[in-house]
Amino acid sequence: MNVVDRPPVTPASSDDRVPVFVPRIGLDTLKHLTDALDVGWLGMGATTQDFEERIARYLGLQDRFVVATNTGTSAMHIALLAAGIGPGDEVITPSFNYVADHQAIRATGADVVMCDIREDDLGIDVASAESLVTPRTKAIVPLHFSGVPCAVADVYALARRHGLRVIEDACHAFGSTVDGAPIGASGDVQFFSFDPVKIITSIDGGCVVTPHRDEFERLQRLRLLGVDKDTTLRYQNKRAWDYDVVSEGYRYHLTNIMASVGVSQIKRVDEFIASRRAVCERYSAAFEMLPGVRVLRRDYRDVSPFIYSLRVPAGARESLIAHLAARGVDAGIHFVPVHRHTYFAGARRSAMPVTERVVDEVLTLPLHSLMTERSIERVIDGVAGFFA
Ligand SMILES: Cc1ncc(COP(=O)(O)O)c(C=O)c1O
Repeated sequence: MNVVDRPPVTPASSDDRVPVFVPRIGLDTLKHLTDALDVGWLGMGATTQDFEERIARYLGLQDRFVVATNTGTSAMHIALLAAGIGPGDEVITPSFNYVADHQAIRATGADVVMCDIREDDLGIDVASAESLVTPRTKAIVPLHFSGVPCAVADVYALARRHGLRVIEDACHAFGSTVDGAPIGASGDVQFFSFDPVKIITSIDGGCVVTPHRDEFERLQRLRLLGVDKDTTLRYQNKRAWDYDVVSEGYRYHLTNIMASVGVSQIKRVDEFIASRRAVCERYSAAFEMLPGVRVLRRDYRDVSPFIYSLRVPAGARESLIAHLAARGVDAGIHFVPVHRHTYFAGARRSAMPVTERVVDEVLTLPLHSLMTERSIERVIDGVAGFFA
């Protein structure tokens, strides 16, 4: 059977289980992939550039630049390096965040400093972050948790007061908007992830968005071994043989093959986001009146939802997870707070009353692009039935 005649490889869910994540890989993605394999140039090339240009168009970028990478973590690492962060510096980010950020900060030689989050959007608590600022502080890394925009205006005000860089973790928020403009279209620097479970995937992948032309050029060199003219020629599916190496650099590039998956997905991103928003709004409407339960949002119009996070009484969470599992509904937990991990236990941090409470209450429910009606009902019935 020809590969393009196959039915979609990932159904939106199986009959027996409703997983937390299901990547949406259809025939369109298989077609892009086989076409890319046929070009005869598998590494970084013209399709990588095509994906970057589509990201820029989708985010409506003006005078801002996109550098695609092989993961969101590598995007963050080179974003920090391009911003001049290194040994002796401190970077502040919430403990309630994925450990990728803390590792990327440490990889630059800088120290991670962890702050608390807010009750309402589970995003960075600016007062807590400000209490940690010292002369060594160079940057602040807020997270748009689950796709819900954090209080970015307050973050930028803090950054202006102390002369800090802002590197926004937008890994959960590709397509979320603030005041009508997509995250990435303004501000300092953002990075995104296109890992296997994100709203759009390139299997693994990510990108940095920057308004700084000098840092854009540095990012391109950091992405690929510090070689000076590699990006230009590779975008024509060619290699330079008389190159110079002008800086440190890594093998962080996104290949044509991965980018082809990304291109197929970004073409459908509006459809994916709309379907996920509708599910989140149904979940919130069904759960907001349940005793002791807190929904993060009722209105998802400005949110491109990566996960659906629900807060339940801490003492009930484990039994709710078991109740859902018995009904074939999986649940996840975002996040284990990073200050509780062995490697980061000694990092400087503020008091974390909200984080300490929230991490025992949060639960991630299944959310897929184009989720089936049956799966949605099973999740709603499972949670509502538990509290009935
Ligand atoms: C908040 C956050 N930051 C960073 C990352 C790292 O992205 P990647 O997995 O593409 O390296 C992730 C990935 O799950 C994430 O959720």
